[in-house]
Amino acid sequence: MKGDPRDLGFATRAIHAGQPPDPRTGAVAVPIYQTSTYVHDELGVHKGYEYARVQNPTRRALEENVAALEGGLDAHAFASGMAAIQTLMTLVETGQHVVVSRNVYGGTYRFFTQVLSRYGLRFSWVDTRDLDAIRKAITPETRMVFVETPTNPLMEITDLAAAADVAHEAGAVLVVDNTFLTPYLQRPLALGADVVVHSTTKFLNGHSDSIGGVLVSSRPEHAEWFAFVSKSAGGVLSPFDSFLVMRGIKTLAVRMERHEANARALVEVLTGHPAVDSVLYPGLPDHPGHEVQVRQASGFGAVVSFDVGSYERAKTVLDRLRVMSLAESLGGVESLISHPASMTHASVPEDRRLALGITPGMIRVSVGIEDLDDLRADLEQALDGVKRHPVREEAATAAPA
Ligand SMILES: Cc1ncc(COP(=O)(O)O)c(C=O)c1O
Repeated sequence: MKGDPRDLGFATRAIHAGQPPDPRTGAVAVPIYQTSTYVHDELGVHKGYEYARVQNPTRRALEENVAALEGGLDAHAFASGMAAIQTLMTLVETGQHVVVSRNVYGGTYRFFTQVLSRYGLRFSWVDTRDLDAIRKAITPETRMVFVETPTNPLMEITDLAAAADVAHEAGAVLVVDNTFLTPYLQRPLALGADVVVHSTTKFLNGHSDSIGGVLVSSRPEHAEWFAFVSKSAGGVLSPFDSFLVMRGIKTLAVRMERHEANARALVEVLTGHPAVDSVLYPGLPDHPGHEVQVRQASGFGAVVSFDVGSYERAKTVLDRLRVMSLAESLGGVESLISHPASMTHASVPEDRRLALGITPGMIRVSVGIEDLDDLRADLEQALDGVKRHPVREEAATAAPA
């Protein structure tokens, strides 16, 4: 296309933003600039590219694309979601304090508690659904409020506009990990957040074949700092991975529609099945965050958690599945199902997991875009292996004849 696609619709931006045809050949797809350095025309004169840790045209195209989708000023891409978070946390200095959603991704928890705490950064783990709890946790040293919504795997929803107000009143920045919903369903910067972080490994890339991360900034001082740390610390995304993520994003709109349609249908199976004790999905009208979610996002996503009552029962269900893949991660075209307590959240201590509600019987599914009939049949046959639920059996036995 010709011209700036920033004013156009989401799917158009996903396909065109940051990706004008290659000026040399007209190639529709941004080439993979697999080079480590660039020749200078003469001493002191170059084309804006000197060394590939600092600038790479393929990575830059992805960064411009994601910035356009999130409505940000700029974006910077990193070798993983955690590398993006590592760069993000250089905004916080020794002695400063961060308020964090109590149920963030286990790797984020591990990085904050076991690595950054050694450098004098302090963290308060808060149920960020509760705005008063955020307010109470804030101290004069608070520099950042870091929120995941929905959380992984408990699907807790934070009101982002309200959280932005609370953070800004205290002079702190609001950072939102938008990995679960993607900008197709939720745009935190428009709700007042200052920085958005993504593990592009998940829905943005969407094909389970690349690890990456991105930071999207709304303020020039953050964008400049992330560019500086990116070139100084060097945890950048490779040209090939940048290409893969860009290729994945071109179909983000259609994938998310199908992911969510399949997820909603499987939620119906889960809520109606006698083996299932509870289902966590913000699309359910009785989900505590449903109302906020309807207000601040255009959908509910494709990650669903449910509880079958015990580790043994969860194992039976997981071992019986044939179409869904038992694997960590989420956001791939294939349905990925996991056991948070022993997989994604194994680095969270057991007592903390239980206090949060990450039980041994909890299963999390990232619903893929396979044929719904196949997914439904697979899930039903797996759940049928543990048909009766102990809690319900007890209730039935206790009921008067
Ligand atoms: C919500 C969320 N944020 C960040 C990360 C870390 O991303 P990566 O695995 O790409 O380093 C993950 C990984 O699972 C995640 O689920």
